Amino acid sequence: MNILAIDTSCDETSVAVLKNDRVISNTISSQIELHKKWGGVVPTIAKRAHQEKIDKVTEEALKKARLDINNIDAIAVTYGPGLAIALEVGIKKAQKLAIDNGISLIPINHMEGHLLSSFAKNSKGNSKNSLNLNEFPIIGILISGGHTELIYSEKIGSYKIIGETLDDAAGEAFDKLAKMLDLGYPGGPVISEFARKGSAQANRFHLPIPMEKSADMNFSFSGLKTACLYKIREIQKQQKSPKTWVYDFCAEFEQSVIKSLEKKLKIAIDTYHPKCILMGGGVISNQKIRKAIKKIAKDAEIKAYHPYSSRLFTDNAAMVGIAAYLNLKQETGIRILENSREIMELDRNPVAQINEKYG
Ligand code: KG4
Ligand code: ZN
Repeated sequence: MNILAIDTSCDETSVAVLKNDRVISNTISSQIELHKKWGGVVPTIAKRAHQEKIDKVTEEALKKARLDINNIDAIAVTYGPGLAIALEVGIKKAQKLAIDNGISLIPINHMEGHLLSSFAKNSKGNSKNSLNLNEFPIIGILISGGHTELIYSEKIGSYKIIGETLDDAAGEAFDKLAKMLDLGYPGGPVISEFARKGSAQANRFHLPIPMEKSADMNFSFSGLKTACLYKIREIQKQQKSPKTWVYDFCAEFEQSVIKSLEKKLKIAIDTYHPKCILMGGGVISNQKIRKAIKKIAKDAEIKAYHPYSSRLFTDNAAMVGIAAYLNLKQETGIRILENSREIMELDRNPVAQINEKYG
């Protein structure tokens, strides 16, 4: 089965082609350069950039896959969560392709895409991991710029949110710290690079570990953000250049985030006894975070998986394609929109939750 998948939920315009669970092409046009000077994603700029790029990115994905739209059996598109006016661009493109070419359309939840991204294989059928559908129940740890969630699932298509952030997402905390330190957008890559140059060992700044004393599986990163803000002000008043303290500060911030993620993941494993952990979302680009999650899994004598390529960590359409494929394969009852009226009625849902079905 050939699936064409589209994601325009935030600041990447992405179209992918999958042959069953194999990613044949995964074209991503990033808007980071456009949003950088504003210190974050500006929805109207995102919408315009998606509109400008969507046709070209679609053509390129098909071309790279050496396929024509007539060879596509199903179109998958992200309907939420994400920025409303950005989601709309992908949905409109998907609707047009589906109607013009008589192809069915499958609405996909962006977070289900992140969750199932580890199931995707490369174009040759390799995934660098042994993850298979017998490894349920699973726990998913989804850490991105908009979400921080722990998901329990016994099968594809059925999800329970067992923990989530009460305020900022983990990626958002990285982005906000970068803004405070004037390091640009997005914050994750630069903060983790600075953290590598520093050390958290001396605990110079006494940053709090979010939700350290809470026994549930929820997260909260806004307290850590505020603590960072006050510390930075205090240091900047006293300190003169060179600003080497910034490296240790980033290392300590990263350590606080990691300790918080570790603590809640441990509780989730002890409570739900999953067979494995699935990691997803842009924040797993951070090697130390992946390592910490793998260690927690190892201690519990289970495996932790992440996608075969870092291109599938941050937003991309291949993850939307694999979510559609697995739902079709497992006959989960996912909505398949076939007639023009149903297809045209597909609407974005900026606050869609992974545990709700479309429609
Ligand atoms: O999944 P994603 O591409 O978009 C959303 O769905 O939000 O995640 C983007 C987030 C941003 O907040 C970015 O700062 C973070 O992922 N990120 C990182 C790293 N690379 C990207 N966070 C920590 N360490 C990184 N190396
Ligand atoms: Zn995402």
